[in-house]
Amino acid sequence: MGTLVIAISGSLRRKSYNTALLRHAAHAAPAGMTVELADIGDFPLYNSDVREAVGYPEPVARVRRRLLAADGLLIATPEYNHSVTGVLKNAIDWLSTGGDSPLNRKPTAILGAGGRLGTAKSQAALRIVLAHNDVQVLNRPEVLVANGWTHFDDDLNLTDERVAEQVQRLMFALDGQIRLHKSRPRAIVLSANDAVLAGLARILIEAGYQVTATGDAAWAAAELKAGAIALFVAAPQFVEDEPIAQAAADSGTPLLITDAVDGFLDQLNSLRNP
Ligand SMILES: Cc1cc2nc3c(=O)[nH]c(=O)nc-3n(C[C@H](O)[C@H](O)[C@H](O)COP(=O)(O)O)c2cc1C
Repeated sequence: MGTLVIAISGSLRRKSYNTALLRHAAHAAPAGMTVELADIGDFPLYNSDVREAVGYPEPVARVRRRLLAADGLLIATPEYNHSVTGVLKNAIDWLSTGGDSPLNRKPTAILGAGGRLGTAKSQAALRIVLAHNDVQVLNRPEVLVANGWTHFDDDLNLTDERVAEQVQRLMFALDGQIRLHKSRPRAIVLSANDAVLAGLARILIEAGYQVTATGDAAWAAAELKAGAIALFVAAPQFVEDEPIAQAAADSGTPLLITDAVDGFLDQLNSLRNP
C-alpha cells in the first residue's frame, strides 16, 4: 500500500523557492509515496472565538481532514526575520488545536530555502513550534538552501545537484519514519469530549500506540470492521446505542470503556494483566 504525504509551503508568493522545493520533493519521493500540496493561503487569521462559535473555517477544515488521512507531513519554510513566516505559524496554530489535531505525532520532514542563513534559524524555530504537538520531525538529513535564487532556473526548476540529492535523501528518510510509525499497534479513541480525547490519546501515544482520536462513531465502527485495530477506547454513550461494541467483539478488538483520563492507566494495565 502506498503512502500519502501532505506538503505545506510557508510562502504564498507566486515565485516561491520553497514551493518549488516541495514540487521537486514530490518528484524525488520514493516509489509508492504521493506528495500533495495543501493550500493554506486562504486560512483566516487564527481566532479562538471563531473556533468556539462556529468551528473550523472550511479552508482549515479541509486541510485538517486531508492531513488526518495522510501518513506524513512535509513543510518548506522560508526565513523571515530569523523565524518562520506569519503565514506558516498561523496555519500551524489552526492545525494544532483540539484533541483531534491532525498534527499529533505526525511523521514530518522539514526543509527550507532562504537568504544568507539558508533558513537555519527558521527551521530551529519551527522545531520548537512543532514539538508542542509532539510532531515527529526528522532531525536529519538537513536541507538548508542558502540564497535560494542561486539554485533555481527562471522556471523554478532546481538546478543544484547537491541540493537535489539532499532532498531525495530527506524523502527516503521520511518514508522510513512513516513505515516505523505504521508498524506501531493502532488505537482508536472515541469521545465527544475534546479534553478527554487529548488526554487519552497522549497517554496511549506515550505507551507506544499509533492513535486516532475522533468523535465520529460511524467512522470508528467502519475502522473496527476493517480490522487491524489493537485497542479501541470509547466513551460509554457510544457503546450503549451504537453497534460499536458488536463491531469490536466481531473483530476481536480489545475494548476499554471510559470517558475520563483519571484511572485510565489502571484500565490499560488490566488489559496487560487480565
Ligand atoms: C520580511 C522578510 C524577512 C526576511 N528575513 C530573512 C532572514 O531573516 N533570513 C534569511 O535567510 N532570509 C530572509 N529573507 C529572505 C527570504 O527567506 C527569501 O526571500 C526566501 O526566498 C523567501 O521564500 P520564498 O522564495 O519561498 O518566498 C526575508 C524576506 C522577507 C520578505
